Amino acid sequence: MAFPFVTPGRTVFGEGALETCEKDFLALGHKALLVTGNVVKKGVAFAKLTALLQKLSIGYEVFSDIPAEPDDAMVDAGASAYVNGGCDFLIGLGGGSPLDCAKAIAIKAAIPGNVCDQAGKEIAGALPPFALIPTTAGTGSEATKFTVITDHSRGAKLLLKGDVLLPKLAVVDYTYTLSSPPALTVATGLDALTHALEAYTSRKANAMTDPLALDAAKRIFTALPMAFANGEDREARESMSIAAYEAGVSICNASVTLVHGMSRPIGARFHVPHGLSNAMLLSSCLRFASQGAPERFAKLSREIGFAGIEDSNTHAAQALVEKLTELTVSLKVPTLAEYGVPKETFVAAIPQMALEAQQSGSPGNTLREVSQADMIDLYHQLI
Ligand SMILES: [Fe+2]
Repeated sequence: MAFPFVTPGRTVFGEGALETCEKDFLALGHKALLVTGNVVKKGVAFAKLTALLQKLSIGYEVFSDIPAEPDDAMVDAGASAYVNGGCDFLIGLGGGSPLDCAKAIAIKAAIPGNVCDQAGKEIAGALPPFALIPTTAGTGSEATKFTVITDHSRGAKLLLKGDVLLPKLAVVDYTYTLSSPPALTVATGLDALTHALEAYTSRKANAMTDPLALDAAKRIFTALPMAFANGEDREARESMSIAAYEAGVSICNASVTLVHGMSRPIGARFHVPHGLSNAMLLSSCLRFASQGAPERFAKLSREIGFAGIEDSNTHAAQALVEKLTELTVSLKVPTLAEYGVPKETFVAAIPQMALEAQQSGSPGNTLREVSQADMIDLYHQLI
């Protein structure tokens, strides 16, 4: 059966990657809207990027008031800055939020109307070109055809998609992640792990995504605890950056499943960082999903090295879930209550969250039929 496999136009990895991309930036345009965060703006990556743009005589405007969860109002403001600044391309620099925001501004610059109206459609057309430069190892946004934008009027996180949301250029220099504090390292790293595990166990998994998702999962189980324990561990940081990219390519082509479907409504309502809400859901959702396809989860568990051929499929799948639980405990992932989400408010929101999760379409990629009642039950397990 034929299937597409899409990736960024060009990707450069490793220390000093940015400085090797002069021709790429010159080909993108004459003036960039540099979409970044206020913390990133004070860091080494921003200094290196702006120095390079100045060297190349490429003009730029900085748009940096990006909240943790970019919404449509922010995208409108960014698009105005793009037009009023006479920009002809964009650069997203930072964690998932600036990268996602840069993509959404590119949509808004090309397609009239509210960007949230594009949810549920396959976005196409001539968007302005953009480059993406991650400073965290997690969302993999630099390698996906997705962006998540909050509809501020409804308080809902919307998934926008289309091949045109892949960047012309991705620059993945792990040294930009060295300053990530432990909590951010964990939240972003567990998002990447969720991508890898969901892509491998998605109905849309294929022969191209399987090796990437598997390698990402192996790397993260080893490197994330090391990067958490010692942020200066360059080997661990490099492995995490590669894994986040691999996992991004994997979900770009195989999609996410139940965890992401259920995670977005939690993030939209209770402002739990995306990677943490994923991590809170990960063990229980994968335990649930594995009962629909124990052989697939067992294969993954054996490939990572958590079980052997002598183990039954059920036992091997269970071993994977146990290792996940161990990992999240060792990385000090808080529970919903520890994060400060009020129990009564959460319980009251569960039916609507289950509905929104179902409507997102992501749970439908799970290797087990998932009803809203199942998701209501899984939400209850969090409290
Ligand atoms: Fe994610």
